[in-house]
Amino acid sequence: MTVLKIAVQKEGRLSEKSLGLLTECDISVVQGKRKLIGTSVDYPLEVLFLRDDDIPQYVADGVADIGIVGENEVLEKDKNVILVKRLGFAKCRISLAVPQDSDYKDLSWFNGKRIATSYPHILQKFLDEKKIKSKIEEISGSVEIAPSIGLADSIFDIVSSGSTLVSNRLKEVEVVTQSEAVIIATPNLSKEKQTLLDGLLFRIKTVQQSQGNKYILLNAPNEKLGEIIKLLPGMKSPTVLPLYLEGWSSIHTVVHEREFWGIIDKLKEHGAEGILVIPIEKMIL
Ligand code: PRP
Ligand code: ZN
Repeated sequence: MTVLKIAVQKEGRLSEKSLGLLTECDISVVQGKRKLIGTSVDYPLEVLFLRDDDIPQYVADGVADIGIVGENEVLEKDKNVILVKRLGFAKCRISLAVPQDSDYKDLSWFNGKRIATSYPHILQKFLDEKKIKSKIEEISGSVEIAPSIGLADSIFDIVSSGSTLVSNRLKEVEVVTQSEAVIIATPNLSKEKQTLLDGLLFRIKTVQQSQGNKYILLNAPNEKLGEIIKLLPGMKSPTVLPLYLEGWSSIHTVVHEREFWGIIDKLKEHGAEGILVIPIEKMIL
C-alpha cells in the first residue's frame, strides 16, 4: 500500500500547529517511542519528525514526500521543492534589527557592519539587491544576543511578537520578507502519492473554509422572515423550518463571525429570538 511520508518539525514554533492541523483533518498520529516516526490509522500517512532546518533537504531528496515547514526555511535552503500550499499559521517576518540606541537612518547604515543571522542566504540576496556591503556572521541560534556580546553590530532574524527584540534592546528597522507555515512537496510525486496529497489538501481546505464561520439558528415571527433573511449573508439561502408554535419559524444559516457581530442588533430589532451560535468543524462548498 502506498503511504505518503510527511515531514514536520520535531519541536519548535510549528510542531504543535502542524500536528493540530492533521488532527483537525481527522488524522491522528501515533508517535513512536523516540518521536522520530509516527503513523496514522486514519490515513495512509507516515510522519517524520525532523529539525525544521532539515525539512527542505529531506523533501528535495524525496526521503519525505511532503513537509510542513516555515517559508523562512524554504527560502533559506533554496532546494528543489514545490510550494504546494500556504497554511496561514506561524506567521512572522524576517527583519533586520539594530541596537535601540544606534543612529540608524536608512539601509546604508549596514555598510561595513556585521550582521548576525541564521539566514545568510536570504540576507545576502537582499544586501546584493540593495547594493549594501556588510559582513554576515552565521550563527545557528540565539542570534538576538549577538550585538550585546560584541559578536555583531546588528541581527537579521525572525520577528513574531517582537518581544525578543525588546528584551534584547533591539529595534526592527527593515522587514525583508514575510513567512508562514507552508506545505512543500518533492518534485515528481508518483501518481498514487499525488492522489494521497490531493486527499489531504481537500481535507485541509474543508477545515480552513470553516474557520471563523458559525452556524446560527434563530426564531422569528413569520411576518418578519423576509426582512431577517435579507440581513443574513448565508452560504446559498437559509433554511427555514416551521416551529410548533404557529406563526413562527426557525432560520438556520452560516455566518462569518466578523459579520455576525455587525448584524446581531439588527436581527433582534427585527424580532429574532433565541439566537444560537454553533461552531462549524468542516465546510465543503
Ligand atoms: C525566533 C527568533 C526569535 C523569536 C522571535 O526563534 O529567533 O528568537 O523567534 O519571536 P518574538 O518576536 O515573538 O519574540 P524560534 O522560537 O523560532 O526558535 P529558533 O530561532 O531556535 O528556530
Ligand atoms: Zn530552526
